[in-house]
Amino acid sequence: MPIRVGIVGVGNCASALVQGIEMYKHNPNLEPIVAFREIGRYRPHDIVFTSAFDIDARKVHVDLADAIFQPPNNATVVFKPPKLGVIVRPGPVLDGVPEGGLVTKVVEGSVEDVVKELNSTNTEILVNYLPTGAKKAAEAYAEAALRAGVAFINAMPAPVATSEYWQKRFAERNLPLLGDDTQNQIGATVLHKTLVRLLALRGVKIKHTYQINVGGTPDFVNLMYRRGDKEKTKTAAVKMMAVGQEFDAYISPVAYIEFLGDRKIAHMLIEAEIFGGLPIRIDVTLDVHDAWNSAAVVTDAIRLAKLALDRGIGGPLISASAWGFKNPPVHMSPDEAYRAVVEFIEGKRDR
Ligand SMILES: NC(=O)c1ccc[n+]([C@@H]2O[C@H](COP(=O)([O-])OP(=O)(O)OC[C@H]3O[C@@H](n4cnc5c(N)ncnc54)[C@H](O)[C@@H]3O)[C@@H](O)[C@H]2O)c1
Repeated sequence: MPIRVGIVGVGNCASALVQGIEMYKHNPNLEPIVAFREIGRYRPHDIVFTSAFDIDARKVHVDLADAIFQPPNNATVVFKPPKLGVIVRPGPVLDGVPEGGLVTKVVEGSVEDVVKELNSTNTEILVNYLPTGAKKAAEAYAEAALRAGVAFINAMPAPVATSEYWQKRFAERNLPLLGDDTQNQIGATVLHKTLVRLLALRGVKIKHTYQINVGGTPDFVNLMYRRGDKEKTKTAAVKMMAVGQEFDAYISPVAYIEFLGDRKIAHMLIEAEIFGGLPIRIDVTLDVHDAWNSAAVVTDAIRLAKLALDRGIGGPLISASAWGFKNPPVHMSPDEAYRAVVEFIEGKRDR
């Protein structure tokens, strides 16, 4: 059973998702490396790309299979899909293009154009990969999804799934809403959360922690100008793992380093006290292909949204959001979120 998916923002994350899904489809002997082989009866292979939107002149009016390799995208190339027959369409620009960013020539469309494209392509689920800081644009695409009757996955940090306003609007239309800000398969956030949670469970007193991230993608160029939302979602995610403990946390993307390309390097430090007030220090480095690291979880989110559509469930999906996103409506530790998602898949909880 195909799951008809649209993409907003044909950047690096979209590139990794499209390459990965198409690679697994064209190589049935390869087993997708994801947490859930099947969600309901859906496998990653069931995802079909039906529409895509961007505003960068290098990507608009181009087949999605080629648009994902246009500059400034620099996600690692693992698989070159054949033409997909999905032409990238322009959408509203609004705050999507910051001054000094890497997009220099834009092509603009309207919310109405997006609604028409979603309807004419029978898109069921829209994944929002806009740059961090593009809050107005994110809301414009959420509005388009509502008007077209399409579920919405907010893979970036603008508050949509965590906004009461959008929760209510999607609940009224009985459309699934997931977000905010993808939590990567093994990203800095999920690793940092797990460490802080472990220390809290073992009764360790956390004094302070930092996480600094460097990378060489266009996302990092953008984050150098507009890091506020990202700092908020990452910090909230980590602090929620030690509820009741007061400690300093500094969590931020700190540098764009061009030669790193699609690699992201995260340095994490936790300083704490054990029994007797003696010091303990944990120092971790994670080095990973950033865009690819986000794709597995989005394949889960898409299939969870489809399951909700099949079951007629609308509004914010609590378990799926806690599993796949840094700033969900309800924060859970990775193991709690896993259990909640399994219960949702098995029909033991309704959202
Ligand atoms: N691992 C990860 O890379 C990761 C993890 C979690 C969250 N995210 C978030 O996902 C989002 C996408 O990340 P990315 O690395 O793909 O970024 P990117 O900069 O490579 O891609 C963003 C795309 O959005 C397009 N765009 C800008 N304004 C637009 C508009 N108004 N309408 C349509 N398209 C528009 C750009 O032209 C570009 O193609 C970011 O907000 C990022 O913070 C990324």
